[in-house]
Amino acid sequence: MFEIQGKVAIVTGGANGIGKEAVKAILAKGGVPVIADFNEELGNQTAGELNVEFIKVDVSDEGQVKEMVSHVVEKYGHLDIMVANAGIGGGGSTLELSTEEYEKYIGVNQNGVFYCSREAIRQMVAQGTGGAVINVSSILGLVGSAGACFYNTSKGAVRLMTKSMALEFAPFNIRVNSVHPGYIITGMVNEDVAGAEGIEMLKSLHPLSKGIDRLGKPEEIAHAIIFAIENTFMTGAEIVVDGGYTA
Ligand code: NAI
Repeated sequence: MFEIQGKVAIVTGGANGIGKEAVKAILAKGGVPVIADFNEELGNQTAGELNVEFIKVDVSDEGQVKEMVSHVVEKYGHLDIMVANAGIGGGGSTLELSTEEYEKYIGVNQNGVFYCSREAIRQMVAQGTGGAVINVSSILGLVGSAGACFYNTSKGAVRLMTKSMALEFAPFNIRVNSVHPGYIITGMVNEDVAGAEGIEMLKSLHPLSKGIDRLGKPEEIAHAIIFAIENTFMTGAEIVVDGGYTA
């Protein structure tokens, strides 16, 4: 097992939702998580609550991602875990959304994950200590959804960049896996955003929601992230935590 105790982790999008639960889960295992998020107010608030460091970063900016990794390595001496989780949701008609909108999704959800995993892996290779990279994709990185073309595109790319990096860096004992959540109640998906009827509709897409009368919880995804960090013989895998959505 890869011991999280004493390991340094960057969790992007760690100010809220799934990322925040991942930070809490890493802390509970004795790790040293750093929150990287572009929401300064929420980032400071969550970091204060959990007593961890917050770095303001926009993951779609390659230069900021490089600075984030350099800062963490300078301060803590090493980087062992990257949870590339920051992302944006939403959707709309492929014909109506603008090219700028498309580029925004690709910039954050696809390029952001690429910059974060690449810079973490660069450091892990230099350290020679191995490491774990977890890229948060989605069920919509596995199956299509009408009106989610841009999101589908970005999340599908995360799935395959993960496998490619896993194969390339296996000789360095750097494990790269993706996690694919179904709909989870977070800042991105909740009654304010989707409405009560919207949440009921989403529940109807998850077979398990019929048994538990709810969507997923962010801690259920954090659980899978911890599994992917700790399991020393898993790489290039796609871990699906979706209440049976894609079954
Ligand atoms: P959330 O909205 O609660 O948290 C996302 C965090 O990412 C926020 O703190 C936000 O400030 C940060 N963020 C957004 N853009 C950023 C950027 N450019 N740079 C740095 N930080 C940025 O959302 P949630 O649900 O926790 O999402 C986490 C990941 O899980 C995302 O990649 C999302 O696509 C994925 N996901 C979420 C699902 C859900 O149903 N909630 C389903 C499937 C995947």
